[in-house]
Amino acid sequence: MEGVTDPAFREVMLELHGPNVLGGAFTEFVVVSRGAPVQEHVLRKHLGRTDFGTPVGMQLMGPNPDTMAETARRVEALGVVPVLDINFGCPAKGALKSCAGSAALRDPRAMEAVVRKVADAVSAIPVTAKIRAGFDDADHVEDLSRAVEQGGAAMLTIHCRTRAEKYQDEVYWERIARAVSAVSIPVCGNGSVKTHADLERMRRETGCDYAMVGRGALADPWIFSGEEVDRRRSFQFLCRYVEAMRTAGPGHPPGLAARVKQLIRYWTAGDAVSDTRTSWLRDPDPSHFLTRLTEAADGG
Ligand SMILES: Cc1cc2nc3c(=O)[nH]c(=O)nc-3n(C[C@H](O)[C@H](O)[C@H](O)COP(=O)(O)O)c2cc1C
Repeated sequence: MEGVTDPAFREVMLELHGPNVLGGAFTEFVVVSRGAPVQEHVLRKHLGRTDFGTPVGMQLMGPNPDTMAETARRVEALGVVPVLDINFGCPAKGALKSCAGSAALRDPRAMEAVVRKVADAVSAIPVTAKIRAGFDDADHVEDLSRAVEQGGAAMLTIHCRTRAEKYQDEVYWERIARAVSAVSIPVCGNGSVKTHADLERMRRETGCDYAMVGRGALADPWIFSGEEVDRRRSFQFLCRYVEAMRTAGPGHPPGLAARVKQLIRYWTAGDAVSDTRTSWLRDPDPSHFLTRLTEAADGG
């Protein structure tokens, strides 16, 4: 998730769960501009460490099939990315303005052409695509799903909200079932998986092959295993995240605290912050915030 699940977050998640529990992860979307393909060092930075035994795919988002295709070639040439995903779901104004992300949902044929161009550009790694259930409405789920399949994607991920529904609470998993009926490639369902039990429920109720967790993993990294951890372990995860960020980069206290606060907004693991969330979020002093985190991880 862009701006949240950075390589350091992924590192801590993939340390926590092996591939039998967490089948795979994707990078945040990498923006591919209209004018030029993404440089190799930028791709490597997005990817971070990949030596966990769990596949880490890379996600690209961009409006231009040519720069997307050339970037895809560069991703494949890195030799460590097992799958390449295309983002057709981002509802952000910036993405729409540049005709990327969910903008493509208005034109299934153009979307199909992007998938085809990217799939043709790589020789050995599969290309997958992530869509929403539609732009303004969900009337065209089948058409959009088939466009992804016909473009040559090896898997479809469908976030069951439309672009207009953004991140609203109410979801309609039956749209995932409609996508499953429309295509013969594997389908990964996404949208409002909030508990470990929801993972299986989504598969059972929709027939999808895989289930993808978004914000549920920000609230509780153990959602994938179903383990219930105590307060201390939940804070230890956050401290390990801080350590991974420090190793990856300069890691100044304000930046570190800001990243952890993004998780604390959602955090339910270990019931650690339900009574104190506001005081964590409003702590004005990053160094104090980080010390408090360490004390909580030590059992304080
Ligand atoms: C802050 C934020 C950043 C996101 N960034 C991405 C992204 O980079 N790529 C992507 O495919 N989806 C992204 N998403 C969407 C999620 O992957 C997911 O589709 C969405 O949150 C619905 O799932 P959920 O209800 O389980 O959260 C993002 C969502 C949020 C809230």
